[in-house]
Amino acid sequence: QAPSHLEILGQRFSADDYTNITPAIISKTNKQLHLKPNHPLSTLRGLIESAYPDFTHASSLSPLVTPFQNFDELSFAADHPGRAVTDSYYANRNMMLRTHTSAHEVEMFRKGETKWLLTADVYRRDEIDASHYPVFHQVEGARIFDQTPNGMKEVEESNEYLSSLLSKSNILIEDVPHISEANPVQPGHDPLFSAALCQNLKLSLNHLMWKVFGEAARGSSGSEPLKVRWIEAFFPFTSPSYEVEVFFQGKWLEILGSGIIRQATLDTAGVQDKVGWAFGLGLERIAMVLYSVPDIRLFWSEDPRFLGQFEQGKIQTFKPYSKYPSCFKDVSFWTPQASAFHENDFCDIVRDTAGDLVEGVQRIDSFLHPKTNRTSLCYRVNYRSMDRSLSNEEINHVQNQVVDRLKAQFGVEIR
Ligand code: PHE
Repeated sequence: QAPSHLEILGQRFSADDYTNITPAIISKTNKQLHLKPNHPLSTLRGLIESAYPDFTHASSLSPLVTPFQNFDELSFAADHPGRAVTDSYYANRNMMLRTHTSAHEVEMFRKGETKWLLTADVYRRDEIDASHYPVFHQVEGARIFDQTPNGMKEVEESNEYLSSLLSKSNILIEDVPHISEANPVQPGHDPLFSAALCQNLKLSLNHLMWKVFGEAARGSSGSEPLKVRWIEAFFPFTSPSYEVEVFFQGKWLEILGSGIIRQATLDTAGVQDKVGWAFGLGLERIAMVLYSVPDIRLFWSEDPRFLGQFEQGKIQTFKPYSKYPSCFKDVSFWTPQASAFHENDFCDIVRDTAGDLVEGVQRIDSFLHPKTNRTSLCYRVNYRSMDRSLSNEEINHVQNQVVDRLKAQFGVEIR
């Protein structure tokens, strides 16, 4: 009963054994929350863009990319787990929904862009809870310089300028060495140039963190310094690589990934004589803490009680309106002996059947029968609407559809 074609943003694709994009996901592809006036994600995009006034700001690239753009051009290994159909959304073997904004790096550099930000919706198959949603938004930023003494001079001048901006902030930075054995300079890169670029990346992002969490969130006069920490990281398309965490409201928050762009990426883009850095950050997690939004689904709400609370350019604390009651339904089943049943398959069936009525999915039991070698699973689905009360009848109907699809698509035996 799987359809032979699917249509996404006016483009038609023939289905194959990779096809796993559901109608629920397709319905999100034209929402562009990061451009919706007054929406918190749009304000946060604007705030980040304002920290990079001399960069190109792109924000309307189609989410449909080839696996080649999303992975291969960025030096992902052929067997990288992110490529699996259990982790990513495919229209078919040749076209997918981007899993990160880095998928556009080569195309931006190829166009001749040397300093740019790109904001967009990205898609990952994932569990369901208050902070995970299969669609979220990222901002990618990058800057490249000529790999010449003049380019080096430009980096140093930029570093001086950013240092002077930062000297006016109240920020405490826990740093790591630019380059280490575990986080090496790339072969073919001059270590002095690479270190200067790392310094430029760090200054630039420390300044951004101050704009977002220092100034915007509490006014520049907060007495406690803003704490930012740098951690060595790994990405296939950068080296050295770092993650940044910010201490905010009593917790360390993971904010972004970054690093010095792999030369292979720049070679592919036809700018082999340049060197530079890139970063990528997720908007939802930051917006949730800045605006005190307790559930990631609220960003997708069309309820005026949500949208009406915000004004473009302003960071405001969300005032929760009363929650409607939730309703739990359990389903237990045996998976077929040789089935490759994945938790994300269950989540996508629920999401596609119930839409945003599902608040969470939890596996409450898993048991391997020693004789039959079959696995028994029990999932608890938590249903709750953001904007109305649900009747038990309505939810039973939804849950029955979930069960029917489980049986039809995965041949499971309900217990
Ligand atoms: N694309 C990475 C992610 O989604 C983040 C990243 C961007 C890391 C640019 C390094 C450079 O996790």
